[in-house]
Amino acid sequence: MMMNAKISRVVMAAQALIVVLLLSVVKCSSGGSSSSSLRVGFYARTCPQAETIVRRAVARAVSRNPGLAAGLIRMHFHDCFVRGCDGSVLLDSLPGRPAAEKDNVANFPSLRGFEVIDDAKALVEARCPRTVSCADILAFAARDSAARAGNIWYEVPSGRRDGRVSLSSEVLQSIPPPFFNATQLRDNFRRKGLSADDMVALSGSHSIGVSHCSAFSNRLAGFNATFDQDPSMDPRFAAFLRTRCPPASSGNSGDPAVSNDFQTPTRLDNRYYENLVNRRGLLTSDQTLFDSPTTRNLVIQNARLGSNWEKKFGGAMVKMGKIEVLTGRQGEIRTNCRFVN
Ligand code: HEM
Ligand SMILES: *[C@@H]1O[C@H](CO)[C@@H](O)[C@H](O)[C@H]1NC(C)=O
Ligand SMILES: *[C@@H]1O[C@H](CO)[C@@H](O)[C@H](O)[C@H]1NC(C)=O
Repeated sequence: MMMNAKISRVVMAAQALIVVLLLSVVKCSSGGSSSSSLRVGFYARTCPQAETIVRRAVARAVSRNPGLAAGLIRMHFHDCFVRGCDGSVLLDSLPGRPAAEKDNVANFPSLRGFEVIDDAKALVEARCPRTVSCADILAFAARDSAARAGNIWYEVPSGRRDGRVSLSSEVLQSIPPPFFNATQLRDNFRRKGLSADDMVALSGSHSIGVSHCSAFSNRLAGFNATFDQDPSMDPRFAAFLRTRCPPASSGNSGDPAVSNDFQTPTRLDNRYYENLVNRRGLLTSDQTLFDSPTTRNLVIQNARLGSNWEKKFGGAMVKMGKIEVLTGRQGEIRTNCRFVN
């Protein structure tokens, strides 16, 4: 009896040891990324050149076309708000399948910079096959765009994995339209875990890039039964914009684009907030940030203290970059950002 009890205790101890060993094997084999959080320098050992390769690809593209910095920052936003930052916005639609995110009206034809990501991915893939996710490349590219266009620097925690699903039908549930008021914008960002301060800071992205006339032409003429022009817009600014945006009724005149910030169109800076104070915000969703009592003070602060806004912008980009990410063994590392493996 004594002997049996002793043996069974040894057996139990051995079993416990095996369980512990198995657990640690499982942990190691998930590539050290079993913790579900992102970290700065995730590729330091597996692909040390990754961030440099992306930075150079962005530098080449932006020096040829400064608008691509705006395109890449917006692309990261549109990726993160739909199914999290999983590179889903990069996937192409396939024949006979439901349309992908990039073909939704919120993205097509206005979203730009896909070739920059393809370029960076091809170079990274040549150096370190199947190692660096498209979602991370996009997050790095947005950061490098902010550095080039605004001299704004922040570190990007990485270790995102790529999603396998992209549906146009999901886009408008999450990407806010340009006619939202401050309350609607605040609620929309809160659903993604971002504060009103984050939302106002990130809207400062509209100090670069362009908007197509269709995004704000309702404000220029035929606004509502009381006002022909949106009374929250400086009438001289509206008159100027009417010279750039032909009336929708004028037929096949297309949908021209104008600079989001006429003062410093290719500088990511806090002039955007000055424009709002001067009632020269382009979109309803811009001007409402100054006109609403809930966000007005944030706009005034950002207009006054550029360096403080830059810090908030970097912090909010990092926070946005963590929305609903896939990590560890979730998702995959795509070899081509346009297609699932
Ligand atoms: C607050 C809610 C937002 C709304 C309603 C909104 C809406 C828009 C719209 C309608 C455009 C014009 C697209 C076009 O016609 O070409 C635009 C452009 C842009 N947006 Fe936003 N946006 C918002 C927030 C953000 C955020 C959070 C970011 C980035 C962090 C961002 C970055 C940009 C950039 C950089 C452009 C210029 C894109 C280019 O030139 O290609 N936006 N946005
Ligand atoms: C914002 O829009 C919502 C939905 O249309 C509306 O209920 C709300 O009253 C608006 N808020 C303001 C401050 O205009
Ligand atoms: C027109 O818009 C203004 C400003 O937003 C608003 O105060 C007014 O009530 C609106 N008029 C109508 C008839 O909707």
